[in-house]
Amino acid sequence: MEMEGYYGKKSKWPKPMFWGLTAFLAAVGIGLGVIIGHFTAPKGPECAVPTPDSNVGSTPMPGVNVIDPINAANIEENLRYFTKVPHIAGSPAERSNAEYIRDKWIEQGLDSAKLVPYDVLLSYPNDTIRNKVSILEDGNEIFHSRLEEAVLRPGDDHPDVVPPFNAYSYQGEPEGDLVYANYARVEDFEYLEKTHSDIKLNGTIIIARYGKIFRGNKALNAQAAGAKGLILYSDPADYAIDDGDIKVYPDGWWLPETGAQRGNTFVSDAKGDPVTPGYPAKPFAFRIDDYDTALPKIPVHPIGYGDAQLLLGNMTGEEVIDEWKGHLPVTYRLGPGFNDSSRNVKMTIHTTRETRTTYDVIGFIRGEIEPDRYVVIGNHRDAWVYGAVDPSSGTAAFMEVSRVFGELRKSGWKPRRSIVFGSWGAEEYGLLGSTEFVEEFQRVLAARAVAYINVDSAVTGNYSLSVKSTPLLYQAIYAASKKVPDPEDLSTSLYDTWRDRLPADANDPNTLPRIKNMGSGSDFAPFMYRIGVPAMSMTFYYKYHSLGISSYPVYHSVYETFYYMKTFLDYDFLRHQAVARLWAEVARDLAESVILPFDCTDYVTKITGSMDTVRTAYEAQMAAQGITFDYIYSALANFSAAATEFEKVISQTDMKDLMALRRVNDQLMQLERAFIDPLGLPDRKFLRHIVFAPSSKNYYAADAFPGIVDAMYRIDEALDQDARWDIVKQQMAVTTHAIQSAVSTLQDVLAFDG
Ligand SMILES: *[C@@H]1O[C@H](CO)[C@@H](O)[C@H](O)[C@H]1NC(C)=O
Ligand SMILES: *[C@@H]1O[C@H](CO)[C@@H](O)[C@H](O)[C@H]1NC(C)=O
Ligand SMILES: *[C@@H]1O[C@H](CO)[C@@H](O)[C@H](O)[C@H]1NC(C)=O
Ligand SMILES: *[C@@H]1O[C@H](CO)[C@@H](O)[C@H](O)[C@H]1NC(C)=O
Ligand SMILES: *[C@@H]1O[C@H](CO)[C@@H](O)[C@H](O)[C@H]1NC(C)=O
Ligand SMILES: *[C@@H]1O[C@H](CO)[C@@H](O)[C@H](O)[C@H]1NC(C)=O
Ligand SMILES: [Zn+2]
Repeated sequence: MEMEGYYGKKSKWPKPMFWGLTAFLAAVGIGLGVIIGHFTAPKGPECAVPTPDSNVGSTPMPGVNVIDPINAANIEENLRYFTKVPHIAGSPAERSNAEYIRDKWIEQGLDSAKLVPYDVLLSYPNDTIRNKVSILEDGNEIFHSRLEEAVLRPGDDHPDVVPPFNAYSYQGEPEGDLVYANYARVEDFEYLEKTHSDIKLNGTIIIARYGKIFRGNKALNAQAAGAKGLILYSDPADYAIDDGDIKVYPDGWWLPETGAQRGNTFVSDAKGDPVTPGYPAKPFAFRIDDYDTALPKIPVHPIGYGDAQLLLGNMTGEEVIDEWKGHLPVTYRLGPGFNDSSRNVKMTIHTTRETRTTYDVIGFIRGEIEPDRYVVIGNHRDAWVYGAVDPSSGTAAFMEVSRVFGELRKSGWKPRRSIVFGSWGAEEYGLLGSTEFVEEFQRVLAARAVAYINVDSAVTGNYSLSVKSTPLLYQAIYAASKKVPDPEDLSTSLYDTWRDRLPADANDPNTLPRIKNMGSGSDFAPFMYRIGVPAMSMTFYYKYHSLGISSYPVYHSVYETFYYMKTFLDYDFLRHQAVARLWAEVARDLAESVILPFDCTDYVTKITGSMDTVRTAYEAQMAAQGITFDYIYSALANFSAAATEFEKVISQTDMKDLMALRRVNDQLMQLERAFIDPLGLPDRKFLRHIVFAPSSKNYYAADAFPGIVDAMYRIDEALDQDARWDIVKQQMAVTTHAIQSAVSTLQDVLAFDG
C-alpha cells in the first residue's frame, strides 16, 4: 500500500514564501479530517432494501453463505506461498505470481481469468553502481551507508531482494552540507525559513525523518527549498518506540536499525503511469516527453536509523526544538554541515527509470440476471520485497475469497450481478496497474461498475478492523460486519469489537463504529476519484491512537516476512479470516441483493456535516467577497428531500418488475457519479470527485470539498488573490451543480419540466 493517508498532491505553493500558507491549511485539513472523520449521522431511514437478501427473479438459491467457508489455515498457506520470494513490480516473480493467480482462479471455478499487461514506467536501483550516502573527509570517503539491509534471520536473504531505494529518484552524486528538516513537511521548512533564515537551504542536502506525510511530498518540498538531495530515514521515535521493553525484528515488531523504507516518490494525483496520463499504457499509447514534471528532480534515498545516527551525530549548528527531536542517542542539530568542517556528505544515486511490463489479473464470475453490472473486488500483488503485510496479507485473503466464490460457482450458484476480481500490478509505483485498467475500460466501468471493494494489506496490526468508505456503503459494511465473528472472541461480532475499539464518538454509548473518509491511496483511488465508482477499503489495524505512529514499523523493509506476520501480527490468521469474511460478504451482498444496498441518506448526512464545517471555517471571509452559501444549502436541502422521496420510490418498487428494479438500481449506482466533475479539481485534473479527495497536505486527513478548501487556503496571503477568489467562486458553483446533479439522479423519470 501507499501508506494510510499517504496520497499526496503536488504542492500548489512550491515557493518558500508560501510555506506559511500550508501550515494553516494543514491545521484546517486536520481539523476537517477529525471532525468529518468522527461525524456520526443520526440514523434516518435507509433508502434501501425491503428484502436485501431475496433472490427475486434469480436462481432459487437464496442467501448463500460466504462467511463460514472462509478458512484461516488456507489463508496462512497462501501467505506462505506469496512470501517465498520477493515480487517487485516488473520482475519475473511478479509475472509468475500473476500466472499462478490466473491458473488458480480457473481451478477454483471462476468463469474466466486472464492477464492484462501494461507497459509502464518503473524504477530500480542500478546493480552496477550501488546507491549510498557517504561522509567525505577532505574528499575521501570515511563512511558510507549500508548497501543493503542486514540479514537478521536465515531465509531473509533471497538474491532478488532489491536494496532500499526510492523509486523514480533523480540520478546524481550531489555533495554538500547536511541540514536536518524534521519530517520535511511544508511547515517544517516554513519553520526553518522563519526562525533560522541564516541557514541557506539552497545547495544543501536535507536529512529528514519518515512519517506524517507522503515521501513524494517530502521530495518536492526539499526540492522547492533548493536542496540538492534528500536523505530519508526511519527514526526510532516513529518506528521503534521504547514502550517499556523495546524489541526489534526478529525479536519484536519494531524496526531494527538496519531497516529502511522503500517507496516511490511520485506525487501522482491519480495519474497512473506517468508517461501515459489519462490513457492506458497499451502498445498503441502515445507516450509524453515531459512526464518527469511530476517526478523529483533531486536524488532521494532511504537509510536505516543506524546509519542516520552517524550522520546526525556529526552535525553542527543549533540544537533543535523538542518537537524536532527523535529518539536516537545524539544531540539533534540543524546544521548546516558537520562539526568537523573538513567533512561533508555525498549521495551516490543511480536509480533508473525504465519501461517494463506489469500485469493485472482479471477474474470473472458472470452474473445471471444483470451480467453487465460489475461488483469489482481487488488487491495489488506487487511488493517491495517479501511483502508479508503489504500486500501479500491481502493477496492471501483474496485467494481464499475467490476460492469460496469459485466453490459456489462450481456447485451451480450464479450471482445476480457479475463479480470481477482484480489482482493489480505495480501499485507500489503509484497505483499503476489499477489506474491503467480503469483508463482502458473507463467507459464500461464508469457506466456499469456497481462498487469497488479494495483490500491492500489485510492485516497491518492486531487491534481492530479499520475501514474507509464512501457513505453510500456504510450500512452494507455495518450489516456485513455484524455477521462476521470477532477474531478474538468468536461469540461476539466483528462489528461489536470494531465499535468498542474505534468508535465514531467515544462519548456516545450508542455510537457507530468509525468509518474514515476515503482519502488516500491504494487502488480504490482511480475507481472512486476518476470515474465515481462507490468504493471502500479495509484492513485490520494496530492500536495507533496510543502509539502515534505513521505505519506498522517494518513497512516496505526486507523484514516484512511471513515470520513477522505469524509471530507478531496474526499467529492464528483469524484477523485475516475476519477481513476476508467481511470482504466476501459485502461483495456477495452487492452482487446478490435485488436492490443495491446503498444508503443515500448517509450520503446526505455526511456531506451536509462536511459542508457545515467548511461554512464555519470560511463563511465570514467569503461573505466579504459577496460569496454566499445559499445555493449550496439550497442544493443540499433538495438532495435531502430527493433522498427521502427516493426511499419511498424504492419501498414501492414492484420486486418482480425487472425494468423497475433496473431503474432504481441504476439511480443508486449513478449517485456517486453525480459528484464527478469531468474537468477535475483545479490543478489535479485526474482527481474529479467534488466531495472527497486525498488530502493535499497531510497524513490522515481526507479533504472534503477539496476544490473549495484548497482555493480558500490562506487566501488572504496569496499573491494571486483575484485569481484565487475566482477559483473559490467557480468551485462553489461546481459544488452546487454537483449536489444538484445528485438530486436529478435520484428523481424518478426526470421530465425536465421544472
Ligand atoms: C547502470 O550503470 C552502468 C554503469 O554506469 C551503466 O552502464 C548501465 O547502463 C546502468 N544500467 C541502467 C539500467 O541504467
Ligand atoms: C540556488 O542557487 C542557484 C545558484 O547557485 C540559483 O540559480 C537558484 O535560483 C537558487 N535557488 C533558490 C531556490 O534560491
Ligand atoms: C561521525 O562520523 C564518523 C565517521 O563515520 C563516525 O565514526 C562517528 O561515530 C560519528 N560521530 C557520531 C557522534 O556519531
Ligand atoms: C565538535 O567539535 C568540537 C571541537 O572542534 C568539540 O569540542 C565538540 O565536542 C564536537 N562536538 C561534537 C558533537 O562532536
Ligand atoms: C498484538 O500485537 C502486539 C505486538 O506484537 C502484542 O504485544 C499483543 O500481544 C498482540 N495481541 C494479541 C491479542 O495478539
Ligand atoms: C432546489 O430546488 C428548488 C425547487 O425545485 C429550486 O427552485 C432550486 O433552484 C434548487 N436549488 C438549486 C441550487 O438548484
Ligand atoms: Zn500496498
